[in-house]
Amino acid sequence: MKTVIKNISKLVQCEQSPVKFKAGDKMKELNSISNAYIEIENSLITDFGTMEEWKGIDDWNTTKIIDADNGMILPCYCDSHTHLVFADSRENEFNDRINGLSYQEIANNGGGILNSAKKIEKIDDELLYEKSLKRLDQLILKGTGAIEIKSGYGLSLQSELKILRVIKRLKENSRATIKSTFLGAHAIPSEYKNNKNEYIDLIINEMLPAIASEGLADFIDIFCEKGYFDINDTRKLLQAGKKYGLKGKTHVNQFNSFGGVKESIVNGCISVDHLEVMNEEDFLAFENTNCIATLLPSCSFFLGIPYSPAKEFIKRNIPFNLASDFNPGSSPSGNMNFVSSLGSIKLKLNAEQVINATTINGAYAMQIQEKFGSISIGKKANFFITKPIPSYQYLHYSFGENLINKVFLEGVEIK
Ligand code: NIG
Ligand code: FE
Repeated sequence: MKTVIKNISKLVQCEQSPVKFKAGDKMKELNSISNAYIEIENSLITDFGTMEEWKGIDDWNTTKIIDADNGMILPCYCDSHTHLVFADSRENEFNDRINGLSYQEIANNGGGILNSAKKIEKIDDELLYEKSLKRLDQLILKGTGAIEIKSGYGLSLQSELKILRVIKRLKENSRATIKSTFLGAHAIPSEYKNNKNEYIDLIINEMLPAIASEGLADFIDIFCEKGYFDINDTRKLLQAGKKYGLKGKTHVNQFNSFGGVKESIVNGCISVDHLEVMNEEDFLAFENTNCIATLLPSCSFFLGIPYSPAKEFIKRNIPFNLASDFNPGSSPSGNMNFVSSLGSIKLKLNAEQVINATTINGAYAMQIQEKFGSISIGKKANFFITKPIPSYQYLHYSFGENLINKVFLEGVEIK
């Protein structure tokens, strides 16, 4: 069965020759076709062009026609950094922050990641799966078609496995494309408070082999930050991950810069994430590498910390993507429409840069750019149709509004 969507006011981010990612001046480039159609078959994009170019229908029995009603089509968001599998929200900590405590102070008082870990230990597997699936389904309707999900609220072999098995079930049962990341080194559990090395050994010698033997992770991650894990831990962990074929994606420079960016990149990370605090040495570490930066503006918004210097990345020709960091502590929203608005309002990116950063560059950060992140023949038919809007800039300008009319994943409309 073929599907043709016609009367698209603008088909945005379409590529004749797909690129891996866009950086520097290229981020301003965004190809789109006005008054367009798109054809899909067997989950893939098979053709697109202007309505004048459309050859019409050759077999009415095998072609379904959908009218876009003059909405625009954009490729679905590729959200490369989330912690979507968590047990419960943490609005009590939010309240403490409103009353003056910092994110770090809350963590030092037993809140934060350790608080989420306690909740994961108690929750039943099935309930955790159901809650996570519901969150994922809601994000799909907001335009997310591919998503990375981390563990890291387990911090014990059993609980990390619990989260990663839930992610595996989500992969099997959702039309969204999912990449999973093992983040055992997210925080030091209280029983290892004075013995961090023993916890690192547990991650490397017990968790990693068990996770690898079940094929539960695509990537490995660590929170490299004061009070959490340092440069040596980062090196050890990334090298251990490599033995199991897991490339790194690290949390670095959220609050402090002390060499985590360079350590991550020399150890082959596909992305380094957060980067709210950047110095010259951190920027230089990116030169002549294939590593992409992942910026998380909703975390800055929610915690009231600095925004990553996105324009400096552009100036230096360093590729970056924008992701949601969806998690209960520092970004309790996975809404990529809001991330896009922040990209424009707070990071001062223009609409073309925001769209590249949330689609093709997000796909590259998950290593799925061959099949996702743009409208091109042979890529997966993952896109959304907007309500009629005056321009694609309007998507970022009208923050908080829901402008998505229909979402298609692998060519199927998601209701
Ligand atoms: O990416 N920074 C570390 N990890 C998460 C937050 C985790 C939490 O507070 O629960 C983040 O922001
Ligand atoms: Fe994170």
